[in-house]
Amino acid sequence: MLKYPKARVLGVLLAISAATPVIANDEGKALFGQCRACHAIGPDAKTQYGPVLNGVMNRAAMVEEGYSYSDAFKKASEGGLTWDNDTMAAFLAAPMSYISGTKMAYPGVKSDEDIQHIINYLSLFDEHGNQAGLVAETSQERPDEDPKERMLAANFVLPDHGVFHLGRKALNEEVAAWDIDVRPDGTGLPVGSGDALTGMDLYDAQCASCHGDFGEGTGRWPILAGGHDTLTEERPEKTIGSYWPYLSTVFDYVRRAMPFGNARSLSDDDVYAITAYLLYLNDEVDEEFELTSENFTSIALPNEANFIADNRTDEPNRQINVNELCMTDCIATPVEVTQRALVLDVTPDE
Ligand code: HEC
Ligand code: HEC
Repeated sequence: MLKYPKARVLGVLLAISAATPVIANDEGKALFGQCRACHAIGPDAKTQYGPVLNGVMNRAAMVEEGYSYSDAFKKASEGGLTWDNDTMAAFLAAPMSYISGTKMAYPGVKSDEDIQHIINYLSLFDEHGNQAGLVAETSQERPDEDPKERMLAANFVLPDHGVFHLGRKALNEEVAAWDIDVRPDGTGLPVGSGDALTGMDLYDAQCASCHGDFGEGTGRWPILAGGHDTLTEERPEKTIGSYWPYLSTVFDYVRRAMPFGNARSLSDDDVYAITAYLLYLNDEVDEEFELTSENFTSIALPNEANFIADNRTDEPNRQINVNELCMTDCIATPVEVTQRALVLDVTPDE
């Protein structure tokens, strides 16, 4: 919903766009990739681990209503923190020292130039996530208010396929896009390659903010390297190198689910390179190593042998004939309550 009368919003936006010409901001957009792990921006933006950043510039801090900010952020906001060019630049350079105690577990952007690109990119979006140049068009007529659109919905033809007559059949391309599992024997691997050094750059930019520079994990984010010979200890550290049985799981997981919040944004070669770098961080290969679809299955992880196929067919529960199992009214006598939790003193009095 618009908070202000449309005319006023338009007026303000026109004023802004007259003062700062809207330029395509490809650098800022690309650099914002590292923020997308935790933040969304744009008209359809949804809360991620971090707040939606629509209209964040030149506003008081804490822009997303309902987002649960850390106490540190609340304090800074009560202290009057407003996002202008200077405060935002200082924040992005070192978030965790600018607001000590923030839950934005992110080390900061190193170059001032990059910071400025990112700020310019953030400035393009108004509070609804529309970009300044585009807003006049979209705010005039919202699709959900358009009577023509409503008519279209009424005319919608019911599909005649399937049990529930819903949706449509998936296209082959759509099935292929989902069908990306990779198995230990290499089935499903896409053709491609990448070396550990390339992987290092990708990792530093897109993974290190959460998983640490060396896979040691930032804060409570998962640890990806180390932990060798800890499996028999009281607190085993289960990492790719110490615990995971197959390299295919690393490839598949990263390709499918990472970077967190921006899944499926990596190319196949990126995933090869990052997987090679994760092997390097786990001391399995040296830094020149190149992982390819050809040599992939020649890499074995150290703990593979400790995983065994579950073949416990001789266990007693496997001897039961399922056809003889009782499924209804199995207890002849009525159920009798013998104790209440209150007696055991586990339920609080109020
Ligand atoms: C690891 C996740 C993570 C990454 C990566 C990250 N942020 Fe954040 N960000 C957060 C969280 C969480 C908060 C909320 C902070 C709090 O409540 O302490 C936040 C808060 C902010 C805020 C304050 C918004 C407000 O409502 O006042 C801005 C601005 C911001 N981030 C910008 C960025 C930019 C730009 C980048 C990329 C350069 C980035 N963040 C990368 C998690 C992240
Ligand atoms: C915003 C934080 C964040 C970023 C950035 C991120 N990850 Fe993750 N990663 C996570 C979280 C959270 C999990 C655990 C997810 C779960 O258990 O559902 C995870 C899990 C993993 C795991 C599995 C770890 C395990 O032992 O189960 C791997 C491997 C991994 N990430 C690799 C990567 C790679 C490679 C990148 C960069 C391309 C990346 N991550 C970027 C947050 C992040």
